[in-house]
Amino acid sequence: MNGLQVPNTITEYDERFRIMADVAPVLIWMAGLDKLCYFFNQPWLDFTGRTMEQEMGNGWAEGVHPDDFDRCLHIYTSAFDAREDFRMEYRLRRHDGGYRWILDTGRKILDEKGDFRGYIGSCVDIQDLKDAEERARALQDQVYQAQKMEAIGTLAAGLAHDLKNMLLVVRGNAELIAMQTGPDGKVRDQAMKIVASSDRASELLRKLLIFSRREPMKKEMVDSAAALKELMELVRAIVPKSVSVELDAPEDLWPVYGDVRMLEQVMLNLVTNARDAVGGKGSIKIAMRNRPFDGREGTPEGNFPVGRFVSMEVVDTGTGMTPEQIGHVFEPFFTTKAAGEGTGLGLPIVYGIVKEHGGWVEVESSPGQGSRFTIFVRADPETGA
Ligand SMILES: Nc1ncnc2c1ncn2[C@@H]1O[C@H](COP(=O)(O)OP(=O)(O)O)[C@@H](O)[C@H]1O
Ligand SMILES: [Mg+2]
Repeated sequence: MNGLQVPNTITEYDERFRIMADVAPVLIWMAGLDKLCYFFNQPWLDFTGRTMEQEMGNGWAEGVHPDDFDRCLHIYTSAFDAREDFRMEYRLRRHDGGYRWILDTGRKILDEKGDFRGYIGSCVDIQDLKDAEERARALQDQVYQAQKMEAIGTLAAGLAHDLKNMLLVVRGNAELIAMQTGPDGKVRDQAMKIVASSDRASELLRKLLIFSRREPMKKEMVDSAAALKELMELVRAIVPKSVSVELDAPEDLWPVYGDVRMLEQVMLNLVTNARDAVGGKGSIKIAMRNRPFDGREGTPEGNFPVGRFVSMEVVDTGTGMTPEQIGHVFEPFFTTKAAGEGTGLGLPIVYGIVKEHGGWVEVESSPGQGSRFTIFVRADPETGA
């Protein structure tokens, strides 16, 4: 290794080293005492698509992602000054312009006398690893989200069940009081108010039970196109004329296997939210599609479904939502609406019903850009499970 003793030019070191470096499956660089690089192996030049001349000195730094540069420079110079080995991860620009994460390991070079001569570094492409980590993290988030919904569902179901029974007692006794008083007594009026309030509370509890999926569904084959057409009349009734409503569904839309009343509830909840979001102007688009899944596409909950699904999306040009908001919208009682205008139960119910139909919900939204809610439900009866 004669050349390593007096480096700083590429012509001076061992030809055998150069050959070895060029066939190595890693990117190799060398830097001298002046911190400047004087050698890059062929794999490095192939990766960056640049010439040795371009990379020499500090030229290589142009290929480091701007967001990573300062951090790397700091690691490099402080290791250099301390004469220590170092490792760092950064994104390096490839010949096609795309960046890939690489792991760069720098080892100090000592000559025969033990004097520091600079560094030799080797880099491996860890992009695939980074991608896998990212996927694992996203999957973990989805699992947490699903577990949270499950826990909230169980809680809501327990609560709703107990409250329902207590309400029956309240309502029953209020009716008894009403019966025992004269037909136009003040007490009777008050008792009837209790009855009416109990009924409203029961209705709220029924919704909670739907959300927590403890309410039985009556599933059958549903002609989705016909159901949608019927629904449109309702939609036109709740959305003001100043908002344009568009409908888009193919001729051959598959029927779905489900509870038509529940599915209507889903659509109505989504459209109501879209209406509230656009605030009297803008547009709402409702689109239905046949969606065959072959197990290669993942859902937000990390499943990879197989089979025929029908999707329905409701796209609005309304307020949109922040990522923070999106994280909460399926939680019961999460609402940004004034008391009396929102209960925060619409989307939890959507979630519960769609789940019950073997499906899932996807949300895309950003503030000021409107929102897109897409639900997927099974087109075929589930076999087994
Ligand atoms: N299309 C939408 N555009 C903007 N925000 C929405 C939309 N749909 C839902 N949201 C947000 O999610 C919250 C919860 O919705 P939901 O569960 O239907 O309850 P509610 O409509 O009673 O508030 C809403 O208060 C709103 O902040
Ligand atoms: Mg709502």
